[in-house]
Amino acid sequence: MKNGFGSSVRVTLFGESHGPYVGAVADGLAPGLPVDPARVQKRMALRAAAGAISTPRREPDEALFVSGVYEGRTTGTPLTVLIANTSAKSADYEKTRAMARPGHADYTAFMKYGGYEDPRGGGHFSGRLTAPLVALGAVALDALGEKGILIGTHIRSLAGIADRDFSDLSRELPALGEKRFAVLDASAGDRMRRAVEEAARAGDSVGGVLQTAVTGLPPGVGEPWFDSVESALSRVLFGIPAVKGVEFGDGFALCGMRGSEANDPFAVENGRVITRTNRNGGVNGGITNGMPLLFNTAVKPTPSIAKPQDTVDFFQTKEAVISVTGRHDPAIVHRARAVVDAVTALVLADLLALRFGTDWLRGAR
Ligand SMILES: Cc1cc2nc3c(=O)[nH]c(=O)nc-3n(C[C@H](O)[C@H](O)[C@H](O)COP(=O)(O)O)c2cc1C
Repeated sequence: MKNGFGSSVRVTLFGESHGPYVGAVADGLAPGLPVDPARVQKRMALRAAAGAISTPRREPDEALFVSGVYEGRTTGTPLTVLIANTSAKSADYEKTRAMARPGHADYTAFMKYGGYEDPRGGGHFSGRLTAPLVALGAVALDALGEKGILIGTHIRSLAGIADRDFSDLSRELPALGEKRFAVLDASAGDRMRRAVEEAARAGDSVGGVLQTAVTGLPPGVGEPWFDSVESALSRVLFGIPAVKGVEFGDGFALCGMRGSEANDPFAVENGRVITRTNRNGGVNGGITNGMPLLFNTAVKPTPSIAKPQDTVDFFQTKEAVISVTGRHDPAIVHRARAVVDAVTALVLADLLALRFGTDWLRGAR
């Protein structure tokens, strides 16, 4: 399946950065899920560019649901969302049509599509296409919330500056959802912003790591082997432009530990099986164990930078130097976190539907 993911809940993405619309379809969502435009727009605002640390390309990003909704609820037939591109400045790209931006998809798209690709603003490879994912994800996030499943992401590090770790998920996750710049330690957040602004002034960009937690997931969700919770999530997380790494629990750090440290000992608390630590991120054998699902997503520095860089003109196979003009984010991390929450909700909606059936996600009414 190209440009899509999911098996019971299938999502397909379409559009180009400077085309009339970007959009997505979710097929297989339960009927009866609330589609609240105000709540959807709130999630969209978390992804939208804002302040000095984002691209000056600003758009209303109004999510228009054109199918699959009746009287404010999903119908269970394909839910299609469109978002108009209203602030495209294609002239920025015409000058450098054949100049491959290092780190971006210009050259690889040309090699795959032979020059028929839409190059404007990164075309189909633009971060702009994450907007409809956030709109569909908002519906899934609300439905999961009604089931007591909460998803939240904070900026674990940005430009090498670390946030503190989660300490009290029941309090921190609901609060994160509303933050535009989601950190747990406000002073680390201030230093991060300054570092992004400084990189922008230098014509450069910075990257970072997002940490996500999901609470309230029942044990026993996920399939063994290739549709494991880890496989299903990382396939989609790696689809987000600029994501270059995903790790679950303590991830790579587990490899430096002994088994006695890396294992999460089991215990019984209030008649429920728990683990005393959660280094494996709530997943064993690809299946949830009932502890919070924890994972990190690595987001690289924005490829488009003003600083001059070596490149090639791929029409002429000639070396050149590029300094990227146009409107770009000096960091993507803070915007990508709403996207991570959204795709996590859609992937979990799929895995839960596989486990309990499509209608399980329906809220009470
Ligand atoms: C929300 C979001 C916004 C982005 N904004 C930009 C941008 O302004 N400039 C840019 O060069 N890349 C931007 N990107 C990243 C590129 O789309 C991405 O690096 C490119 O498609 C190459 O893919 P890869 O990094 O996964 O290999 C953005 C990504 C996201 C998720």
